[in-house]
Amino acid sequence: MQSSTNPSDEKKARGNFWKRALGVLFLLPAWFAPHTKLRIFFHRLRGINIGKGCEVGYFVIMGNVHPEMITIEDGAVVTAHCTLLEHDNAYYYTGRGAVDSRPVVVKKKAFLGIGCVVFPGVTIGERAIVGAMSLVKRDVAADSVVCGQPARTKAPKPADLHSPTPNSQLLTNILASRNAFEPKNVQKRRKKFQWIETRKCNH
Ligand SMILES: CC(C)(COP(=O)(O)OP(=O)(O)OC[C@H]1O[C@@H](n2cnc3c(N)ncnc32)[C@H](O)[C@@H]1OP(=O)(O)O)[C@@H](O)C(=O)NCCC(=O)NCCS
Repeated sequence: MQSSTNPSDEKKARGNFWKRALGVLFLLPAWFAPHTKLRIFFHRLRGINIGKGCEVGYFVIMGNVHPEMITIEDGAVVTAHCTLLEHDNAYYYTGRGAVDSRPVVVKKKAFLGIGCVVFPGVTIGERAIVGAMSLVKRDVAADSVVCGQPARTKAPKPADLHSPTPNSQLLTNILASRNAFEPKNVQKRRKKFQWIETRKCNH
């Protein structure tokens, strides 16, 4: 790559001052607020485009220089410790090339597993699954499952192994038979605390 001291590149590398200030101001609550809706609220204030019904986990690093370049579409899930890079200054900072700033799009109902890293310019297709700790440098096709470093497409598992898995079906049966033999006062107490069993996972 060519050496780059282009002022527009420099501006790109630093980003607009006020946008960056806003992005930094809400960074901590966006990372560590105790509920997904709060984290999404603060990420939106930072300038990230997040659709309806999404979930964003703890400590998700995204769009630190150009938050507006990150789009998470309706129903997509970005779990804890994911990193979505909209810029790569590696060649710029070492004087060997230009800044690579490209948008990242997570399409509807896609799922990013714990700790994965998505590079600039990548689009994660609708309902695609990215495995935990994967490194994604290329677009991911809709409905596919990718994992690994770098992420590669994995053959999909037969649907009957997923919902519900044989073990979870077994667990449901055991719980149902347990409830049938429980004394009334225990059942009452269980009902009181049922919200804990049924609450959504807060990634
Ligand atoms: C990607 C994923 C959905 C695949 O699940 P699965 O279909 O049950 O796949 P399997 O466990 O049968 O694994 C199949 C192969 O892929 C590999 N693999 C699975 N997940 C992987 C990952 N994250 N990174 C690298 N390889 C992975 C397995 O080692 C296995 O390889 P092998 O065939 O050579 O033995 C799952 O492993 C995953 O990462 N889920 C995300 C979990 C997560 O982050 N949840 C957030 C909290 S809700």
